[in-house]
Amino acid sequence: MSDTLLELQNVTVLRHTEPTGLFGLWGAKPVRALDGVSLSLRRGETLGIIGGSGGGKTTLAEAATLRRSADRGRVLVEGRDVTKLKGDDRRKLQRRLQIIRQDARETLELDRPVRKQLQDQMRQYGLPDDVSRIARTLERVALPAGFLERTPAEMSGGEQQRLAIARALVLNPLLIAADEPVSGVDPGLKGELLKLLMQVQRELNLGYLIISQEFRTIRRLADRVAVMHAGRLYELGPTEQVFADARHPYSRFFLGLEANDAVPPEEDLAGRVIAGCPWAEHCPLATALCREEAPALREVAPGHAAACHAL
Ligand SMILES: Nc1ncnc2c1ncn2[C@@H]1O[C@H](COP(=O)(O)OP(=O)(O)OP(=O)(O)O)[C@@H](O)[C@H]1O
Ligand SMILES: [Mg+2]
Repeated sequence: MSDTLLELQNVTVLRHTEPTGLFGLWGAKPVRALDGVSLSLRRGETLGIIGGSGGGKTTLAEAATLRRSADRGRVLVEGRDVTKLKGDDRRKLQRRLQIIRQDARETLELDRPVRKQLQDQMRQYGLPDDVSRIARTLERVALPAGFLERTPAEMSGGEQQRLAIARALVLNPLLIAADEPVSGVDPGLKGELLKLLMQVQRELNLGYLIISQEFRTIRRLADRVAVMHAGRLYELGPTEQVFADARHPYSRFFLGLEANDAVPPEEDLAGRVIAGCPWAEHCPLATALCREEAPALREVAPGHAAACHAL
């Protein structure tokens, strides 16, 4: 069996903004929340995803876990094209492709015992709600058996975050996409939680997509890192190489490798059609070509790619 768990080939996801204005005529034009993104993830590998707000990170996690459909391009899981999978088959695969949302702790039912919440989760995906499996899963995230009958209201923030991880793990996933899995967690507990994520990954050989604004978290967890902006993937490479020697002008700006006097505002794509590179208007290296034609991702060093005409 191939080592590649997930592959996105040229994936574009359109999002429709709410119509506004007189007769709802404005804002009806869809936005390319993901724009021609290609990447792959191996079993047991962690890909970190970074970039400014509105860059498409959450949309990427949703497309990769089949929570949002690709309007163009293909999604492959274990080499199988699952882009058009529908109904029960799609749902079955979604169980193996878990997403831990940014507000995961807030979606816990505060007064419902842990055991019942995990049983709900298993039933929802058509699995037998076997309590011994739940107990084993809780143990894996360092919540001993005593937590089975406890409610989230009686747990600390760190324990709740571990429960959010257990809720994904109990479904026996291949991949977990986690949006800010340690943000808002007490700094003292953060290290412990990161260690736990790494340990669980090793034990189960999971693929991880980790979105985080905290560079320390990404450096700690990610084997490779993807830099996104305006729905595009600008750079992808080994984590330390990207942090030390980012090539794309946006990555250099975002990682603070380049002195910048003017901080460009976060992109609001609504109503904009970008022909060339979305960064061109802020980029010191931009030429006429950059405004006309979006650069493709190409290799700048072994295993390290960037999408920039100037490189
Ligand atoms: N609810 C929505 N309805 C319509 N368009 C949306 C919606 N949410 C996001 N978008 C569009 O999709 C683009 C990508 O958004 P996404 O949430 O994936 O970015 P992100 O990188 O996760 O941002 P953040 O760091 O703020 O979480 C945004 O620029 C926006 O134009
Ligand atoms: Mg997001």
